[in-house]
Amino acid sequence: VTDHASPAAQPTLARRAAGLASSLPASPDARSIAFDSGHAFPGVLPDLTRECVVALTTCRPETLQYAPRPGLADLRAEIVRFMASDGTSVAPEQVLVTNGAKHAIELICRLLLDEGDAIVVTTPTYFTAIPIFRSFGVEFVEVPQDQHGLDVAHLRETLADRAKAGRRAPKFVYNVPDFHNPTGVTMSEARRRELVELAGELGFFVIEDSPYRKVRFEGVSVPSVASLDGNARVFHVGTFSKLMAPGLRVGWVTGPADLIARMIQLKSDGGSCPLTQRVIVEFLRAGRLPAHIAQVQVTYRANRDAMVAALGEEMPDARMDVPQGGYYLWLTLPEGVDATEVARVAGERGVIVLPGSRFFARSDAPHPGNHLRVAYSHATSDEITEGVHRLAAAYRTVAAGARAASVS
Ligand SMILES: Cc1ncc(COP(=O)(O)O)c(C=O)c1O
Repeated sequence: VTDHASPAAQPTLARRAAGLASSLPASPDARSIAFDSGHAFPGVLPDLTRECVVALTTCRPETLQYAPRPGLADLRAEIVRFMASDGTSVAPEQVLVTNGAKHAIELICRLLLDEGDAIVVTTPTYFTAIPIFRSFGVEFVEVPQDQHGLDVAHLRETLADRAKAGRRAPKFVYNVPDFHNPTGVTMSEARRRELVELAGELGFFVIEDSPYRKVRFEGVSVPSVASLDGNARVFHVGTFSKLMAPGLRVGWVTGPADLIARMIQLKSDGGSCPLTQRVIVEFLRAGRLPAHIAQVQVTYRANRDAMVAALGEEMPDARMDVPQGGYYLWLTLPEGVDATEVARVAGERGVIVLPGSRFFARSDAPHPGNHLRVAYSHATSDEITEGVHRLAAAYRTVAAGARAASVS
């Protein structure tokens, strides 16, 4: 047996891997209630039996073969139609099918980033994107957001200051404009227009990562950032994870055709799985998506309402802006309460939540320590009641400790 821990046998790792933990955290107890992940509600996963049969019989020569690298032509065409029905016009050659949105984000990074490049993210930002960006050796520039989304005036000032100081202009701004993960905020149309204008003026790209766009419970949809882009500066990232099922692992990215062509050459997976792509095409062609989206909206709205009501009752100290869609609530605990400690104690008591600290990209800048993200997407109503009860008990324990420490 080779001892990989001994210095003689230790291979030299790439910089992107050297700083990573050498083992994965233990899985939480299966009896724990999971408010941490953006998993789908099991009852809302579509029955794809018919689509699978078609994919594996009539379409077998296609689905068990290597797929075209850009994605199945039929799926690209369906994505073009879907986006057009949502007000965003793209041509098929502007669409690249990927293994989910995260893969699309990584491909954009492969296209645009060299080590040392700067990128802009919001405070807070989608935590799973942070290690992807970090693995490209980027410098993070953080920009705040408010109830209207990313603060574009602040971004303009920050970029002007950087230019004055002779620092690199960022390659792109990454943002989740619809039901932001984790805050739930939707960026206003005015801010979206300002952002694309600034992108055109200063020459940076925008990544519009919008998995929750259709998971809207109330209010009116805002035009996508891509639909407002007159300068070919926006990459729009979509996914079937929240539209249909995350296990399908199919998403897409749209952008300028010449850049998508380069991205296709950087995609080294032999083409995304044609079997799942065909299943999705059959589902869309059968016209099942609109009714399914309606069911998704009804389900997650009920979950959101149950979670908001339970938190109001059990944790009245926790502040939140109730989002009009998406999967998450972003809680602000009273100043001085350590949310990381609340999450740890909650885990011991059988409910898993994520501390807000996970959602801030810069490790060398101060961030508030009193936020929690709770997902209402996956839990049943009984689990929501019980999970919030356990979370509130954990919160009270930690808050009492914080109060005792402040008077002693
Ligand atoms: C903002 C955001 N982007 C991307 C993803 C991942 O999507 P996919 O499953 O398509 O990789 C998620 C999932 O939680 C998300 O919240």
